[in-house]
Amino acid sequence: MDALDALHLRSSVPKLGDPLPSQEMLENIYKAAFSAADHAVLRPWRFLVVKGDSREKLGELFAKAGVAKDASLNQAAIEKLRSKPLRAPLVLVCISSFKPHPKVPEIEQDLSAGAATQNMLLAAFVQGLGAMWRTGSLAYDPLVKNGLGLSSEEKIIGFLYIGTIDGGTKQPCEADFQPYFQEW
Ligand SMILES: Cc1cc2nc3c(=O)[nH]c(=O)nc-3n(C[C@H](O)[C@H](O)[C@H](O)COP(=O)(O)O)c2cc1C
Repeated sequence: MDALDALHLRSSVPKLGDPLPSQEMLENIYKAAFSAADHAVLRPWRFLVVKGDSREKLGELFAKAGVAKDASLNQAAIEKLRSKPLRAPLVLVCISSFKPHPKVPEIEQDLSAGAATQNMLLAAFVQGLGAMWRTGSLAYDPLVKNGLGLSSEEKIIGFLYIGTIDGGTKQPCEADFQPYFQEW
């Protein structure tokens, strides 16, 4: 696929299924993170690769966090949390990993980690895979962050669900970009 087509046409795919993308495809995705704009080349990111049974472990952590926050949660709601990571064969936990630097404030490092995550969405798309960036309150939950081993300097910026497209994809809409660009 032409690079401009990829940039213009990428869209999220919420319904994902097996199989897990091949190792080669996954490495193409991981490598794409590293061409993100990155002031002082700090690589202010890391990614936890959650696949196979580890997704159940992540689901347990989500359920535990949900109950810790709201002890009145009913069984159906707990089950919903537990099954979230099973929505795709792979979940990448995308982490902005702040590295103190005299010239690169935290916001720039968060933006670089976000750009790396977007690059991975694109790399999935051009390979014909489905992907979706999700957060929700679990991304900001201290129990989830702790359970995933984040340091106090780190943030979860997204759960990237990646897999085989299972169902339809959206028709890309023609973005009305003009109003967002003003001559100054
Ligand atoms: C930081 C971030 C967090 C997001 N979290 C969610 C989410 O939790 N649930 C959701 O449905 N979409 C979420 N989205 C939006 C989707 O990833 C997606 O971009 C949106 O549905 C628009 O679809 P498109 O990517 O095909 O344009 C998030 C996007 C970003 C950048």
